Amino acid sequence: MCGIIGIVGNRPVAPRLVDGLKRLEYRGYDSAGIAVIEGGDLKRSRAKGKIVELEAELSRAPIDGLIGIAHTRWATHGKPTVANAHPHISGRVAVVHNGIIENYETLRASFDGARNFESDTDTEVVAHIMDAALSAGMTPKDAFAHTLKQLHGAFALGVIVGDNAGHIYAARRGSPLAIGLGDGENYIGSDAIALAALSSDMVYLEEGDSAIITANSVEIFDENGTAVSRDTTRIDDAAIATDKGPFAHYMLKEVHEQVRTTGQTLSNYADGESVKAPEGLDFTAFDRLTLIACGTASYAGHVAKYWFEQIAQMPCEIDIASEFRYRSPVLSPRGLAMVISQSGETADTLAALRYCKEKGQTTIALVNVMTSTMAREADIAIPIDAGPEIGVASTKAFTSQLMALYALSVLAGKQRGGIDVAAEADLMKAAAAVPALVGKSLLLDAQIKTLAADLAGNRSAFYLGRGPHFPLALEGALKLKEISYIHAEGYAAGELKHGPIALIEDGTPVIVIAPFDELFEKTVSNMQEVLSRGAKVTLITDAKGAKLAGHMAHAVLTVPDMPQTVAPIVLSVPVQLLAYHTALALGTDVDQPRNLAKSVTVE
Ligand code: F6R
Repeated sequence: MCGIIGIVGNRPVAPRLVDGLKRLEYRGYDSAGIAVIEGGDLKRSRAKGKIVELEAELSRAPIDGLIGIAHTRWATHGKPTVANAHPHISGRVAVVHNGIIENYETLRASFDGARNFESDTDTEVVAHIMDAALSAGMTPKDAFAHTLKQLHGAFALGVIVGDNAGHIYAARRGSPLAIGLGDGENYIGSDAIALAALSSDMVYLEEGDSAIITANSVEIFDENGTAVSRDTTRIDDAAIATDKGPFAHYMLKEVHEQVRTTGQTLSNYADGESVKAPEGLDFTAFDRLTLIACGTASYAGHVAKYWFEQIAQMPCEIDIASEFRYRSPVLSPRGLAMVISQSGETADTLAALRYCKEKGQTTIALVNVMTSTMAREADIAIPIDAGPEIGVASTKAFTSQLMALYALSVLAGKQRGGIDVAAEADLMKAAAAVPALVGKSLLLDAQIKTLAADLAGNRSAFYLGRGPHFPLALEGALKLKEISYIHAEGYAAGELKHGPIALIEDGTPVIVIAPFDELFEKTVSNMQEVLSRGAKVTLITDAKGAKLAGHMAHAVLTVPDMPQTVAPIVLSVPVQLLAYHTALALGTDVDQPRNLAKSVTVE
């Protein structure tokens, strides 16, 4: 959510800042801007919209220098306009910011009209405070430290000072910030992906850290202002590789990658037909598991609740982080709390993790970015291992979250004595079958494209499922909403008659997710209920289900028969492709849907 990059170097920075912004565009794309120091003066270029607009502005009126900061914005305070685009400048100071300055109104008021504010943002006040401190005679270092002390909230900051060329001032409180190390150059970035073309050696700032970066030095200070040293992490190229390959969109590429990524995830948790325990994880030490996440990751948690209860007989709750953190949840003294997050940076999920730590829970972070804040702060960090996910709509991270959670539920069952060696082997063989089943599900692509052309003509749609396919119905509706902008709702199939069925009329599209399992007949009854009210039903099922109920539906998407326990992972594929092709038919921006950002680092 908002992306920051900065370069202090020995070569012109503007094109490289723009390239870094393009890599960060998945974090927000409402507006973008850069500021450089050219001959001792701050120069700025900003544009509303995506980075291409900034590029056009820069070719119309070029600026460049040997030091610069840049930003791509996901608007929080103030509309996506040029005036609200970062960097914000006051006098000699230019600032880029990710996060929210919560006390900005008080700080703004404290100037009592003495300064002229040009934007509606919470960020601009940072530039004014620091510029005022410089005008009062402070050194840039002291002025930056003084500024940080005034700010409340969660933020990452990058600052340059016009007459102090050669220094970037950076700070991290709540929002992530990495320093990339170069040869005669150094960098700051919201993540390693931003700096992929520049550096593989990252120093991750810790909570409360600030830093002064020059072309040849990096000084880091902790929250008390004491100089500290932080480890350097070498980033694996695969973890930052972000090309689309032959695919039209990142989302499509990532859907196809699931043949590989589901297996890759499993390899972290499987040893042949045995499940492998992540270091330090023993489910017998706990009497209750609390899963916490946001959005798609929370739906993975919802599916996992069924697995932990059914496979491991382990009491398990799932909550969305933004509710969990504010409802004073009562946690068991022997509780285990697991946050699930692709980015490992989602503000609400991170706050929930901290709450759980405070309440004495042992904490696990199941994350895709192993250098993320959640990974660093949890007692145990375990990998989703789906590789970088760039499409804003989560796909491969979801199926990999499911795969990891499935294996962990088998582990919990094994450790807690609920399943024997034979059952463990059966369950793990089922997991090993997933990559091939995902491959076969991808063959539905052409059929889904035809169905999507029809779905695209509707204003709303319903997704129904029971058991672990209820959360998959929620995920299907979310995917459709976020990339095609068609209103969609997911329901537990048995719940529809308690109200929402009133919305079913002639031609209402209803997608029923029902593989052949013990709940199949009940879901088919619910399908009949909507059919008799005129719904146009697409049934997503397996070969057995298609044989028994396919003739009732208007269309059937049939995946091969599969072990029941892993069906939610496999059935995710047609659900994702249906949303993708519908969005494509409507001509929306699949990888960067309106109003969204990939990494939600504000509340
Ligand atoms: C939807 C989507 C979001 C994320 C949510 C949590 O396609 O991607 O709902 O799942 O914002 O993000 P992470 O997993 O990074 O915590």
